[in-house]
Amino acid sequence: MTTNVTQLLPLPVQELPLHGLYLSHDVRRLAAARRRPLVYANFVASLDGRIAVPGPTGSGLAVPGQIANPRDWRLFQELAVQADVVISSGRYLRDYASGHAQEILRVHDDPRFADLAAWRGQQGLAPQPDMAIISASLDFPIPSALLAGGRRVMIFTTEQANRQRVRELEASAGQVILVGEASVAGDRLLQALAGLGYRAIYSAAGPKVLHLLLAAGVLDRLYLTLASRLLGGDPFSTIVEGPLLTPAVDMRLHTAYFDSAGLDGLGQLFLSYDRPPPESRL
Ligand SMILES: NC(=O)c1ccc[n+]([C@@H]2O[C@H](COP(=O)([O-])OP(=O)(O)OC[C@H]3O[C@@H](n4cnc5c(N)ncnc54)[C@H](OP(=O)(O)O)[C@@H]3O)[C@@H](O)[C@H]2O)c1
Repeated sequence: MTTNVTQLLPLPVQELPLHGLYLSHDVRRLAAARRRPLVYANFVASLDGRIAVPGPTGSGLAVPGQIANPRDWRLFQELAVQADVVISSGRYLRDYASGHAQEILRVHDDPRFADLAAWRGQQGLAPQPDMAIISASLDFPIPSALLAGGRRVMIFTTEQANRQRVRELEASAGQVILVGEASVAGDRLLQALAGLGYRAIYSAAGPKVLHLLLAAGVLDRLYLTLASRLLGGDPFSTIVEGPLLTPAVDMRLHTAYFDSAGLDGLGQLFLSYDRPPPESRL
């Protein structure tokens, strides 16, 4: 199996190793060169736009097994390893507690990613990025494993959150930060994260969190793997869910790679999109 992918954009077309592909995007350098933090998100989707379908346990949705694949997972890890903080959701912590979710950054416990663990060490970064959990319900436990090694776990919720639950979480896990009335507001979330000193912010959450980031205009880059399979089925999730985005959010193709070896030779596209700067968004 080839270890390369074909870069289609920017030109010229060239072959590049899969390993190091997204590390070379150097989001930390991009983030350091800006006035406000860089927020980036990542999804793997089927050709019919599905990112989650009913999971094997029958309860809730999960990333479809037909499109999850090791080459995309490698790039997911390359993006996560560059983060100061990873955004996830209450749903993730519920899945974690029930044994249906794993650590997001796997570079320390999966030997395939040992080079990425070393890379993080060389940058002088803590072994794990901190975690920002988005939740309205606060209906989850904080697994003690997530607090190991001094990792900071912050919960971003709303003014309507149950105060008793807020106190319990503060006592067990750390900070609970109110950043919205009935719904977490993306601009207030970003302001709070910037105030805490975070620069490279990676959203590994799903479609509702992507919506709040887009609605507030704070998503800078979208990584999208398009797996060459159609799944159909109902119910399902796509990359963004929520009210119509008005105005629509424009994105500009930044890089495109064809991974011919992906999905057992079926192939997949690794795409990344940037939000154009305000002056060119007319
Ligand atoms: N294929 C992929 O690349 C990919 C990527 C990410 C996720 N997924 C899948 O997509 C599905 C959904 O993932 P997800 O649940 O993490 O995504 P999500 O829909 O973004 O987040 C859902 C949870 O986040 C909280 N939340 C979201 N928006 C909020 C707001 N505006 N205010 C307050 N809280 C808010 C809520 O937590 P509470 O319920 O605790 O209030 C909600 O249940 C999962 O099956 C996941 O595996 C797939």
